[in-house]
Amino acid sequence: MTASQIDTPVLGTYYDSRFPNLTILNHPLIQHKLTHMRDKNTSTRTFRDLLREITLLMGYEITRTLPLTTRQIDTPLTVYDAPVIAGKKLAIVPVLRAGVGMSDGLLELIPSARVGHIGVYRDHESHRPVEYLVKLPPDLEERTFILCDPMVATGYSAAHAVDVLKKHGVAGDSIRFLALVAAPEGVKVFHDAHPDVHLFVASLDSHLDENAYIVPGLGDAGDRLFGTK
Ligand code: URA
Repeated sequence: MTASQIDTPVLGTYYDSRFPNLTILNHPLIQHKLTHMRDKNTSTRTFRDLLREITLLMGYEITRTLPLTTRQIDTPLTVYDAPVIAGKKLAIVPVLRAGVGMSDGLLELIPSARVGHIGVYRDHESHRPVEYLVKLPPDLEERTFILCDPMVATGYSAAHAVDVLKKHGVAGDSIRFLALVAAPEGVKVFHDAHPDVHLFVASLDSHLDENAYIVPGLGDAGDRLFGTK
C-alpha cells in the first residue's frame, strides 16, 4: 500500500478509499508479530502462539464499538450502576480450518460466546470455495457474529461464509469479518458481494500470485498453523 492510498490514520487504524468496508488495524504490536508470522523460518508452535496473540489484539479493537448498558451491583462501599456489554449475544464462527487459530484467541476475550463452524476448501483449479460443513448456534437473528479466517486471498471463501450467515437470516450489520492478511483482489470481491459487512485485517498486501497465494503473504496459513503440507 502506498501512502497516497491511506486516508485516515486514526489510533493505529487505517482506511483505504477503494474499500469503504475495510479497516486495517496496524497497531505496532500487531505489525511486529505479523512480521514474525510471515518469516518462513518461524516454527509451527511460534506461528500458532503469534496468531493467538494477534487475534487478542485485533479482538480488542473490533469489540471497541459494542454497546454498553449498566447493571446495578453492590461494591463493598456502595450501590453502583456499573457498565456491562449490552445488545445482542456474540457468536464466533471460524472458517475451517485456519480460522480455528483465531477463534481460540477470540474465545479468551469473550468466553461466553457461542461457536459455530463453516467448512470450505478451495478447489485447486477454480480457486472457488467448496462447502463441506455448516454448524451454527441457535437464535441467529439475536446474535452479533464474528467470522474469522486469517487469509482473504480471492475473497470467495470469505464472501461465501457471509452468504451462509445471511441465508440463515443474519443481517450484514450483525456480522464482522476478522482476517489477518488480505489481497486487494479478495477485498474487492468481498466488498462487491457484501458492502454491508465490515472487514478487519492486519495487513492489505500487494497482490495474488498465479496460484492465488497472497504476496508477500505468509504461505498457507492452515499448513503453517497445524504443521501440515
Ligand atoms: N490461503 C492461504 O492460507 N494463504 C494464501 O496466501 C492464500 C490462501
